[in-house]
This record gives sequence, structure tokens and C-alpha cells, in this order.
Amino acid sequence: MVAGAVALLVAVLPAEESGIAVTRSATVGVDRSPAVAAAAVRAAVPLGGLEVPDPLALDSGGRVTSVRQWEQQRRPQLLEAFQDNVYGTSLPAPTKMTFSEDSSGGGGSAKKVTITVTGPEGTASFTLRLFTPSSGKPKGTFLLIDHRGSVGDDPGSGGYAPVSTITGDGYALAALNADEVAPDDAGSYRNGVIDAFYPAGQDLPADAGRTISAWAWGASRAMDYLQTDPDVDPSKVAVIGHSRGGKAALWAGAQDPRFPVVISNNSGSTGAKLARRDSSGESISAINSQFPHWFPETYKRFDGNAAALPVDQNELLALIAPGRVVVASAADDGNADPQGEFLSYLGAAPVYELYGLGETGLSSANWPPATGKGFRGPGMSYHLRSGGHGLEDSDWQIYLGSNLFTR
Ligand code: GCU
Repeated sequence: MVAGAVALLVAVLPAEESGIAVTRSATVGVDRSPAVAAAAVRAAVPLGGLEVPDPLALDSGGRVTSVRQWEQQRRPQLLEAFQDNVYGTSLPAPTKMTFSEDSSGGGGSAKKVTITVTGPEGTASFTLRLFTPSSGKPKGTFLLIDHRGSVGDDPGSGGYAPVSTITGDGYALAALNADEVAPDDAGSYRNGVIDAFYPAGQDLPADAGRTISAWAWGASRAMDYLQTDPDVDPSKVAVIGHSRGGKAALWAGAQDPRFPVVISNNSGSTGAKLARRDSSGESISAINSQFPHWFPETYKRFDGNAAALPVDQNELLALIAPGRVVVASAADDGNADPQGEFLSYLGAAPVYELYGLGETGLSSANWPPATGKGFRGPGMSYHLRSGGHGLEDSDWQIYLGSNLFTR
């Protein structure tokens, strides 16, 4: 439904900006650094009163018109641009990886898996806890990038990781202990997987991924494990993260097409939020100064200069296509800029449209949509919860109740 998707995108724009016609970005000034030069030649589209890079515009000029062209040309270009400018280069595949399962302890159907990875400089281990329904194969598995380390061996029923609610509904929860993958600390973040690949005592290259990139990489290693576990269906795994974990979930899902569902819960800046809304909620310079270990040095070039980014976060969401992208915001979560997350969601739709999945499910492209309601298209899902920052029961009720693993 090409017309439907385009109409929806356009409907959010002021009249003078309507029309999906490609325009040239005029936002770039005198800086001729490579990133800025790239932005100068990329076509832009109007979105929410801003000019954002068009996900379908090719670096060489011209515009993607087919799935084949998207997958073979544009998608690799965009992934590279996100590595070069935002998240940094990802760790390579481990030279060796082992899984050790312990099913003895823990409540419910817990299985504790230790994933040990080896790189050229050493080894690192991290834990994945798997909870499955008491009978039958799960309808799907939620792989939670648990940056709070709050999922222990005993399942809880409410809030951030309501294990018994999830398993009671017939789903599995796999909780990845993110802090073991890479500690969330500027002084020690390399002490997990990163130093298995880089010589300790030497600075990381300026463009090497840091904590968020390592967490995303860890989610892919967890997926490697899930592919070997007969208790789950590896073709039905949703990677989910809240806030900083949501940034990592999106980056994991953008890179790893094995995730058919990717859930961003309140991921905000450098997550689902449109980067060009830099002055709404947390800015790029604020996130880089408060959390200097999350992103590479190369991202810091865009402190106070979001317009020079050759990508924007609607393009990150678009990289998940044809997998289901799920964006969840909270109305009072000003730091995460819920409206900026909503705009990114709309701005990803043209790529889903290539696959015939461009219906966003929203009843209107006007901000704000109704709170507490799950909107669902064949490849995209969205909800806005009332209240503030958090992954809460009411978010889970929507995730569990909206058939995320079917079209
Ligand atoms: C901080 C940070 C956000 C992050 C959040 C969280 O508020 O500014 O970028 O998403 O922590 O992880 O809860």
C-alpha cells in the first residue's frame, strides 16, 4: 500500500513541507570533514519540521526502488555509516565460543547458561538466564538486554522483567546480563568482552565500539546460543531493551537479521529518538559527556552538530526491516523525547513499504497518539504509555498481547 504509507508520512508535516519529493539538504556549512561532506550529498526528506536523511537515498545519488537494491546496496552503506559515525565498529566473531548450561538451580524453568567467548587477546564469560513455560514450546522468546542485572535465578512477576507473567502467557524470557558483557562504567567497560579483542593498556581505536556496541554484540552471541537450544524456536526471538539497553537492542537488530522482532522501550537519544531533534530531551553532547564509555570517539564529532550526521535514527529503525520494529515510549519521559521517537518510527516506514509492510498501524500521524493503546501494522508496532521512564507491566501487557511474531 504505497499510497497509504506515503500519505501517513506526509500527514505529519506542515502544509508547506508536505510532499515526499526528495530535496537536497541545505543544512551543511563550511566543515568539510568526511562525515559532513557525506551529509552534503545525501538527499533529505522533511519530517516533523526537520530535514532528515532519506533512508532510500543512495550515497552515489539516485533512490532505491526495490528490495534487492535496498539489501544489496543501500542497507550495507547505511550499516557502515552507523558504524563509522555513531556506534563504532563491532567486535568480530569470536575465535572460539562455548556454552555451559546449568539447569539445577533457580525457580521456574530457569536454565543458566554461561557463554564464554575467546578473542585474540583473551576470554570473557557472561550469563544468559532462560525461563520457559512449564509446558509446551514457547510461542516466542524475549531476549532482554538486562543492563540492570536485575534478573536473577528466581523469577519475579511484575515490572521490568515479569518472568512468571511472560512464561504464563506461553512465551520464554532469556535475560542477558549486560554488565558482564561490558561493565557500564567509564573506568572498567573494557573488562568484559572488549579486552578479549583489544590489547589491554592500549587505547581503543577512535572508531571502535564501546559499551552499547558490546551489548549489541553480546545479544548476537546469545542468539548463537538460542539457535542451539531445542527448548526455544530460534526463528521467533525478539531482542528487547529498555533505555540504554534499548539503544543496544536496536543496534543489535539493525545488524543481525536473525531477530524477527526488535523492541525499543524508551531508548531515547541514540536509540529511537530522531538525532536531529538534538535540543529536545537528551542531546548528543549530553549523552557523550555523561556516558563517555557508551559510544566511540568518532560520535563525539557530532556534539552540538547533529545536522552534520550523515544518518538519522529513523534509518536505524529502517535497517530492521523486514523484521518487526517495535517502538514504545512514555508520555512523560522528556529525556527520551517521545515525540522524536514517534517521528523516527514514521520516518522508517518508506523502507518497510519496499517490502509491502509500510502500514504503521497508527490511526493518525499527528502527535500525540492515544496513550495505552498498541498500534500494529504488518511489520511495525508502536505504543505510547502514560507516565514516565520505565519498562513496566503495562508495556509488557501490550508486547504480550499483540502477536508480535506474526504479520
Ligand atoms: C540516562 C541517559 C539515557 C538512558 C537512561 C537509562 O537517563 O541519559 O540516555 O537511556 O539513563 O538507561 O535509563
